[in-house]
Amino acid sequence: MPKIKIEGNHQLSGTIDVGGAKNSAVALIPAAILCDETVTISNVPNITDVDDLERILIHLNAKINRGENKVEISSENIINKEINEDLSKKLRASYYFMGALLGKFGKVEMYFPGGCAIGARPINLHLKGFELLGATITEEENHFTIEAEQLKGNNIYLDFPSVGATINIMLAAVKAKGKTIIENAAKEPEIVNVATFLNNMGAKIKGAGTSTIKITGVKYLHSCFHEVIPDRIEAGTYLIIASLIGKDLTISNIIPNHLEALIAKLNECGVEMEQGIDYIRVLEPKEYKATSIKTLVYPGFPTDLQQIMATFLTQCKGRSVIEETIYENRFLNLFELNKMGADTKVLANNQKAIIKGKTKLIGTEVNSTDLRGGASLLVAALIAEGTTTIDNIGYILRGYDKIVEKLSSVGAKIEII
Ligand code: UD1
Repeated sequence: MPKIKIEGNHQLSGTIDVGGAKNSAVALIPAAILCDETVTISNVPNITDVDDLERILIHLNAKINRGENKVEISSENIINKEINEDLSKKLRASYYFMGALLGKFGKVEMYFPGGCAIGARPINLHLKGFELLGATITEEENHFTIEAEQLKGNNIYLDFPSVGATINIMLAAVKAKGKTIIENAAKEPEIVNVATFLNNMGAKIKGAGTSTIKITGVKYLHSCFHEVIPDRIEAGTYLIIASLIGKDLTISNIIPNHLEALIAKLNECGVEMEQGIDYIRVLEPKEYKATSIKTLVYPGFPTDLQQIMATFLTQCKGRSVIEETIYENRFLNLFELNKMGADTKVLANNQKAIIKGKTKLIGTEVNSTDLRGGASLLVAALIAEGTTTIDNIGYILRGYDKIVEKLSSVGAKIEII
């Protein structure tokens, strides 16, 4: 497994362009197979999660043509066969093939999805949605057979506004007979992006981005061209980097509105930034003060930025508190940060952590625990004194497009070894 080596404490200047959103792209690609013609998706990030979805498409005999940041998918000759355990487990988003294949063929056979070990991550809400649409589910150990003679629209209330369940139910309902209403739906921008894609193909989805989504089933979905929205988590990662070690560093090709919770928290700590329509610029780091964050569903503070924010908080004076409400096990990175000199402590129930700052970070050997945990170490390495080697970087490459090239281009001393 390759490692990333970073010589820290070099100021970063220039512009970093943010790519397409991982969590949109990984839903749009499975959604594309619902189309009865060929679709083109642009601004697709080059990340290993997309490579793994491509493998599943090839396995299903779909035609996929991948350009630099563009994907053309044609599902005319697709064969509905079981997605084996190895392919299913490669990534979390393989679960979107459940909704997409069920919606297209009325049957899907696959295994429990993979993804970072940050909590139990059950899929009961996805399955409940499929059942309410008329599907029967046979579950044997990790294997699922989900089938329906005819999917029929229904009212589905989600006990929790799950991103995955909301999208998966939309995928299954888009060609179902009649009307589906999802109540307490998730409101993340990625959901709006997927609904827009399906509507561009001729689907009838209203209310995406609110907690009530109404879907009227259609019979045929036609060809379309669609663009992935900018990745708000990648943007947030670079904005945190800019706040810590930027010297006139601009993060561009972003939608600042999608980052409101992060921006508010950074401002609270004392970060000064200039905001444009599609960029944020940080002139120089200041002295920052501690704060508290609590992860919530959108538009609250995103759990996917929590671990990276933890690194930022090590550089804030005082006692910061992080409360993680979405996942049960998302503080593993803190043990690694402590190896670099951070003063963090996870409280007994694993849902809260205390970070005392400001602490000097010193380069050492650390281990990437999961995707965003790995990113938190990478940010720490950029500001640390000396050299840091991060192991297990496969996690980081699953979610960050050209991260080494982007950081090198603004002056970071970073390489894959
Ligand atoms: C998606 C994102 C992930 C992000 C998360 C929350 C993708 C591929 N991943 O993950 O990066 O961290 O949203 O913003 O888009 N839950 C259940 N039952 C279910 C579904 C979820 O109990 O059927 C729970 C989960 O265990 C978790 C919470 O709901 O505690 C949130 O999960 P969900 O919003 O579904 O996240 P994912 O779709 O897995």
